[in-house]
Amino acid sequence: MVPLPIMGKHPINLSIPMKSLLTTLSILALMLPQVQGASSPGSNVTTSVFGKLPLGAPVTLYTLTNKRGASVSIMDYGATVVNLRMPDRRGKLDDVVLGFDTLASYISNKPYFGATVGRYANRIAKGRFTLDGKVYHLPINNGENSLHGGKVGFNKKMWTAHIVSQHPAAVAFSLASPNGDQGYPGTLKTTVTYILNDQNALIILYGASTDRPTVLNLTNHSYFNLAGAGNGQVLNHRVKINAFYYTPTDAHLIPTGEIRSLIGTPFDFRKFTPIGAAIQQTGGNPIGYDHNYVLAKAGSKRFALAAEVYEPTSGRFLKVFTDQPGVQFYTANFLNGIPGKGGKKYPQYGAFCLETQHFPDSPNHQNFPSTVLRPGEIFRSATVYKFGVR
Ligand code: GLA
Repeated sequence: MVPLPIMGKHPINLSIPMKSLLTTLSILALMLPQVQGASSPGSNVTTSVFGKLPLGAPVTLYTLTNKRGASVSIMDYGATVVNLRMPDRRGKLDDVVLGFDTLASYISNKPYFGATVGRYANRIAKGRFTLDGKVYHLPINNGENSLHGGKVGFNKKMWTAHIVSQHPAAVAFSLASPNGDQGYPGTLKTTVTYILNDQNALIILYGASTDRPTVLNLTNHSYFNLAGAGNGQVLNHRVKINAFYYTPTDAHLIPTGEIRSLIGTPFDFRKFTPIGAAIQQTGGNPIGYDHNYVLAKAGSKRFALAAEVYEPTSGRFLKVFTDQPGVQFYTANFLNGIPGKGGKKYPQYGAFCLETQHFPDSPNHQNFPSTVLRPGEIFRSATVYKFGVR
């Protein structure tokens, strides 16, 4: 069983998302045999100052370490994953996520390295949607569209952190986004909880509630390179995605609304396939994968294996589990040598993202699973990035 964090010992106001978090955790404990393990005294959470915001507020880095020595560091600015150190097949730890050394770089963070993305991950066409007959307008920040929650998305907010538990190492980040924030209706209370268990699984739990009808799509935007961040391109990583369909897009990466079979196309990852095998045939500008995959279990909210990735040199293996209906497979097509951690330059295709999510632009597509959240409902979701070696 995944042990439940002890909430009572911490100065947490048990707001609805936090209560939902507890519920989600207990559901998880029953549902996730793949990621379970006894808690161990070897795990812990430590804190350090990562930097200061322009007005002087300190940004804190929370480092969760498990008994195997694997660790993840997350800062309260953007509830952002900054480092993720996982062993290769010889036991050598490497940082497998792209990012920066300084807070200043994260403040511009154009690629959204490691960030929690909200309120709406990916694009909403022309920054406009209608809900209950009312039209809402969002900031346009990507061509003619609204991307990743607008100009000041959740990735640019200071979240309030609480250390939930030392064994397993768990930290919760909460954010209250006011009604009208970036054009979205409703006061949205969100909690994102990160747990690192002793089986090298990074568990991410989302909880949210609203006081007016709204739309919501939360994800984590970590860029993985299983050979180590900054260690070249990922074209030789082998990927498998449990999807038969994807949502094709127009030239501005907005879904056309079609749910199209991927069988036999360059988007077909039903069997392990090197990322580079057919990438040149994907089209797009820039060329590469930047597509929402309709997970085979999309019709249900079942928590299931969504994707697997293997990197042959290091032997690292990643399994992604989620209850979300889709996953954005993005091969860092927009990177072009941006300097990252340790001064290493991140090339195009220098990482892959598997952003578990609802489909892009869902509020404008009746045939996509709904992203509407209403007062009294609690949004809860779980994604697990489970690491191993072969
Ligand atoms: C997402 C999008 C990409 C790109 C990145 C951020 O993954 O799908 O098109 O905007 O975010 O650079």
